[in-house]
Amino acid sequence: MKRPIAELRATLFAALAVGCGTTAKDDTPPTVVVEPEPVVPLPAPAPVTTSKKPAPPTSKLVGYQNVDGAVNRLGPATCSAEIPQPQCRGDESHQRCSKDSDCTEHPHGRCASGVGQIGTYCGCLYSCTKDAECGEGEVCVCGDAITTPHGGSVCAKAACSRAADCGDQPCGVSSYHNGCGRQVKLQCRQSDDACKSAAECGEREQCVAAEGNFACRGRTCVVGRPLRVEGELRAAPPTSRADWGRPVAWDTSLTDDERRRGRAHYLMVAALEHGSVGSFARFTLQLLALGAPAHLLAETQRAALDEVHHAQLMYGVASALGADVGPGPVRATAPPPTEPTAVLEALIEEGCVGESLGAVEAAAAASHALPPLGQALREVADDETRHAALAWNSLDWMLRVWPGLKPHAEATFARALAAVPPAPTTEPVPRLGILPEAELSAIRQQAVEHVVRPLARHVVG
Ligand SMILES: [Fe+2]
Ligand SMILES: [Fe+2]
Repeated sequence: MKRPIAELRATLFAALAVGCGTTAKDDTPPTVVVEPEPVVPLPAPAPVTTSKKPAPPTSKLVGYQNVDGAVNRLGPATCSAEIPQPQCRGDESHQRCSKDSDCTEHPHGRCASGVGQIGTYCGCLYSCTKDAECGEGEVCVCGDAITTPHGGSVCAKAACSRAADCGDQPCGVSSYHNGCGRQVKLQCRQSDDACKSAAECGEREQCVAAEGNFACRGRTCVVGRPLRVEGELRAAPPTSRADWGRPVAWDTSLTDDERRRGRAHYLMVAALEHGSVGSFARFTLQLLALGAPAHLLAETQRAALDEVHHAQLMYGVASALGADVGPGPVRATAPPPTEPTAVLEALIEEGCVGESLGAVEAAAAASHALPPLGQALREVADDETRHAALAWNSLDWMLRVWPGLKPHAEATFARALAAVPPAPTTEPVPRLGILPEAELSAIRQQAVEHVVRPLARHVVG
């Protein structure tokens, strides 16, 4: 993988040199004077390991019930504020805090030590004991009721908070690890839910609160530019249709098992590519709100078109491995945040880090895959390299307009790189471009060390 990584690094440095540096004066909006937002404390990084045990039986829970693995909330309860994570030692490579008293953004702060894919870090974690300590539309979910990101009690988004909110159905508690992080939320169960607990789902799937219903979901988070709405990943559900996929000619020697695994993998990839169309649409609105130069807007439109093409390619691959399939409707209606700090954070996490790693991973997958798929993945890798260049150029422009944001950019890179997720646990099928977990993780680490860190030093200074 050394060559694709070296190529990506050279391409992105070249794009920075010609993309923004030579047009600095023209790019600066003449009338927009926006003071940088104050640097807000960073949210706690998700710990990689947790000492959490399975939810105890109903008899030990107060305010909750656990019916064969389906956790429901009956009403408010007093939760423990304890966070079962090790204290920060002080020798971690990324330091966001050094002691508990540094963690003051919410009640019950703890400065905890963790290990991300890229190294060790210290970060603030917060728990809660009652609903009143949480924000609007949130409740305090007790750490002994369900698995939470840090193992302790957490504030969670809640469409219901007690049994009486849901008529004759329970108020369900969902804990979903999408491959990048864990999210807890509450939602009324419905009589037509696809599942009540993971026992009713497939291997490696979880039963989680989706849009309106509880549904089975696997790990959907792969590195790239996902569509996030109010912090949540949005991806279209697969639906039977023949108007999205592009025909792919296949080697008929694939086994039934390879076809099944390949289809599941490319259905997930296709939904994320499809979501990227919306992600670039949101980025367009953010660039407009910030008064961005024309070349960044033009590149963003081109990138959105690329993502339509990627989704067609990937739905085509999934269709060729089974029946015709395409995306169902996906809702992305919440207005995107347009404050410079929020735009910068998403740009770094999803664009500079996500798209750079996505470009290298697609190139690696292309080098192993069968010819028709390998060709499609090569095309995706080339496009993703341009998308990464767009992200770095956009960041470069933002930091020239708002130089006061540099410390925040630096902190966001530290957090994003500490939290680069391990590769998804999928059974490898190299000739379908599905690589072993260890190989993908090694590629991510090399790309971080040889591409993302040097570029971040160059752009942030
Ligand atoms: Fe893409
Ligand atoms: Fe992309």
